[in-house]
This record gives sequence, structure tokens and C-alpha cells, in this order.
Amino acid sequence: MPEVLIRKARFEDRYALARITIDATDSAFRGRVPEPCLKGLTVQQSAANWGRSILEENVGEHLLVAEVEAVDVVGLVLARCFIRDIADADIVERYAHEINSLQIDPAWQRRGLGERLINEAARLTSTSERQGLIVRVLKDNPNITFYQTLGAEIVGSQPYVWEGYITAEIILAWKAIENIRNRHT
Ligand SMILES: CC(C)(COP(=O)(O)OP(=O)(O)OC[C@H]1O[C@@H](n2cnc3c(N)ncnc32)[C@H](O)[C@@H]1OP(=O)(O)O)[C@@H](O)C(=O)NCCC(=O)NCCS
Repeated sequence: MPEVLIRKARFEDRYALARITIDATDSAFRGRVPEPCLKGLTVQQSAANWGRSILEENVGEHLLVAEVEAVDVVGLVLARCFIRDIADADIVERYAHEINSLQIDPAWQRRGLGERLINEAARLTSTSERQGLIVRVLKDNPNITFYQTLGAEIVGSQPYVWEGYITAEIILAWKAIENIRNRHT
């Protein structure tokens, strides 16, 4: 495995982030959800969105990338020091932070990068006094098991509509960041 650097995203990463998001979403969902769900943004549109978000540097958000030496950026994580759009008041009360997006280039999956990115992002968000981290995964996503492997537990679910397709998002959580399995740092 070549050297991997986990670092803050930069504006020039926007096209790599767009490509990773589109390819990772396709690898997770193709054949599992209706076709229109996967006809999302073009690389150009997605890159423009990532670029804007990097320049805005929203307070309480951390966007990190995994960069493989002499290759490119191959993974990303977006973590927030807050949670939003969760209907269950108990979950809102109990958990302070959220992993909002975690995507690894399909060619680079299963090499420990997802685990490294989650741990690094959780370390950055945990500077506030409140603990607890959630992540939402669509019930159609076969990668729910990844989070359970890292110690997350299912704490709830809520309806979700994706391009007219009615499904649900599963909410998983760790009570504290020390509970996230960490074999790589
Ligand atoms: C899910 C995802 C982020 C995992 O990242 P990754 O870098 O491939 O995972 P890692 O190599 O860090 O895996 C860590 C552990 O989880 C396990 N694991 C990873 N994906 C798994 C899966 N789909 N099912 C079961 N276990 C899985 C690994 O085997 C490893 O455990 P081990 O060391 O005991 O063998 C990545 O596959 C991905 O980007 N998928 C597509 C997009 C997606 O579904 N993102 C999550 C949306 S919320």
C-alpha cells in the first residue's frame, strides 16, 4: 500500500471529489435503487458544488481527503459538529456530531481508508464538549455493515425520498469517538 496522506480538502481537489462521489454512489446503489436515482449531477456540476463548499469553509464542518502518493485524491469524508434533519428528539439530544458523507473510489475500497477517514474526522469534531457521532445510511446501501464493523449501533430510522423513490435511512451511532474501531493510526 503506497503512502496515504489525510488532509483538509483544497479547491483544486474539486474534480477528484466529484468523480469519487459519482463513482462510489454508483458502486453502492446500481441495481438496488431505481435508475433515475443514479442520474444525478454531472462531474462539472458536482465539482462546482464541492468547490463552493470548500471556499465557504462552513463553520463546524470538516472536509478531509485521502491522497495516495503519486496517484490522486481517492477518498473523502465530510463531518459536522452538529446534526440536523433528524426527527427523533432522543437522538438529537444524545448525539452531537454527524458523519455527513464518506466516499472511497471503488478501486481503493477495502484498504482501510474509510476507517482512517472516519477516525480523523471524528477527532476533529470531538473538540466540543458534547460527544456522540451519528451517520445515516440508506437501507438499500450494502455498506451498512462497514459501520457496524467499526462499532456503530443502529439507533433509529426515518423515511427518505430519493428522486421519487420512497425508502428509509438507517441511523447508526457511536456513543463516543473512543468507540470507533481504529486499526490504522
Ligand atoms: C463504505 C466505504 C466508505 C468503506 O470504506 P473502505 O475504505 O472500503 O473500508 P475499510 O477498508 O476502511 O474497511 C474497514 C473494515 O470494514 C469492513 N468493510 C468495509 N466495507 C464493508 C462492507 N460493505 N461490508 C462489510 N464489511 C465491510 C472491512 O472489511 C474492514 O474490516 P476488517 O479490517 O476487519 O476486514 C466504501 O466502501 C465506500 O465509499 N462505498 C461506497 C459509498 C458508500 O456506501 N458510502 C457510505 C455512505 S453513508
